[in-house]
Amino acid sequence: MPDTLTHPAVDGPSKSGLTPVMLNHAAWITHDVAATTEFYTKVMGMELASTIFDDKVPSTGDAFPYFHIFFRMQDGSTIAFFEAPGLPPKAKSSHPAYDVFDHFAMQAKDADEVRRWHDWLTENGLEVLGPVDHKGEFLSIYFHDPNGIRLEITTPMNAEWNAHTSQGYADLEKWLSTKEKAKAEGRDVSEALVELIAEERKRYEA
Ligand SMILES: [Fe+2]
Repeated sequence: MPDTLTHPAVDGPSKSGLTPVMLNHAAWITHDVAATTEFYTKVMGMELASTIFDDKVPSTGDAFPYFHIFFRMQDGSTIAFFEAPGLPPKAKSSHPAYDVFDHFAMQAKDADEVRRWHDWLTENGLEVLGPVDHKGEFLSIYFHDPNGIRLEITTPMNAEWNAHTSQGYADLEKWLSTKEKAKAEGRDVSEALVELIAEERKRYEA
């Protein structure tokens, strides 16, 4: 890490010795648990792993009655849903970028399998984007589940894809110091960040 760091975010890792082991579940609301189950079991090939009924949320005590359902992937990690009677539809996003950036990515075995997923999903009537090559690091396809959740099937093309830690800290430091500098100079922060992005993305052109 650079030694010019000032922000606690770039101060180094946690001292607890604790790191989560794996993804247990990510959860969303569904308004159609039948369509959701059909999609995750028949199209995504997952196993219905577990279900729960409750009249209140155990963690908060909120009186939101629900049916909770989990679908299992090969490594035991799951994607989960709540159908809660009487909920109004979710509010629309304030900007289309939220609907592009917010997504859930699942890993396929290799590039060949990503292509097989593409064909399978297309045969099932889904609109599929890709395969997209992400700077030689990933090959990915994108589609939506029946709840409108943006899903990705990806495979790492570089075995080191999640081990770029020093570069990560250096980049984070650049991002944070660009913000701080722009603020100190009374400049528009977004404009300064867009300039940083334009400069840094040149590294992929080589
Ligand atoms: Fe992604």
